Amino acid sequence: MPFHLCCSITETENIAQDQFSIVFDSVKLADFVKAGQFLHIACGDALTLRRPISICDTDKSLVKVVFTVKGAGTRWLSLRKPGDMLDILGPLGNGFDMKGENLLLIGGGAGVPPLLLAARQAAALPQFESVTALLGFSDIGKAILLGDFAAACTSVEIATDDGSLGRHGFVTDLLKYRLNTKRFDQILACGPYNMLRIVSEIADEYDIPCQVSMEERMGCGIGACLTCSCKTKSAGKEKYSRVCADGPVFSSREVVWNEA
Ligand SMILES: Cc1cc2nc3c(=O)[nH]c(=O)nc-3n(C[C@H](O)[C@H](O)[C@H](O)COP(=O)(O)OP(=O)(O)OC[C@H]3O[C@@H](n4cnc5c(N)ncnc54)[C@H](O)[C@@H]3O)c2cc1C
Ligand code: FES
Repeated sequence: MPFHLCCSITETENIAQDQFSIVFDSVKLADFVKAGQFLHIACGDALTLRRPISICDTDKSLVKVVFTVKGAGTRWLSLRKPGDMLDILGPLGNGFDMKGENLLLIGGGAGVPPLLLAARQAAALPQFESVTALLGFSDIGKAILLGDFAAACTSVEIATDDGSLGRHGFVTDLLKYRLNTKRFDQILACGPYNMLRIVSEIADEYDIPCQVSMEERMGCGIGACLTCSCKTKSAGKEKYSRVCADGPVFSSREVVWNEA
């Protein structure tokens, strides 16, 4: 059951090029959220539609979101200051379902933040022996949350497209390398569409259950308008699912991927 809340911002930071974090106070949200769920945030009077942003972290009553400035909504958010109020609907969506003992998280760019909460929630469960994170960025200037992931995970590896930090190449190359050296029970992935498609193919090849967090433009955020439809399949039949209400997290085998 989502809440409609007005929350006071306690902290804002420009954490990297075009990337910002906002921390706000909401004991209701902090107590209820599951990693992979998102908030629908009103971004000023000029924009009718709210913008979906994943929950990155919680700490007691505090909730953190991390976002990249893309257009008017995220630019408006980036200009908020401590003491300002945010109009928030959430938590929304289903979130990750974490199973097994050895978990692998793979994130790319703006898809990295929600995996931090997944890492922290998994690390707090006694069943997990290890939580490994593979994080991909275009370059060192875009790399975020590295210290937080290092503190939450058993191991963290980085890839950058230009080789300015970690391994030179795509994070999906790191994934193949890692899967050849260790057996994982589950993969959780969040990032650009093409990255998710390739992760899904690799997960199939290695026969590892994989959940992907899908991104679509949203209208209502609560399952009523169908703006956010994506093609999925179950029992061999294709259908349209709503990313906001049936997702954003889907089994990678459920998604009908577009051709590369
Ligand atoms: C479930 C979910 C969780 C998300 N979590 C985060 C997050 O934690 N951090 C983060 O930085 N971003 C996240 N996003 C993406 C974020 O919602 C969009 O970047 C934002 O809505 C853009 O709004 P805008 O007004 O700034 O840009 P607009 O002017 O609306 O659009 C600018 C550009 O971004 C593209 N875009 C807009 N909305 C989306 C979308 N929903 N998915 C993909 N592309 C989009 C547009 O096609 C356009 O090219 C998430 C999206 C979804 C669906
Ligand atoms: S955004 Fe309206 S149904 Fe998903």
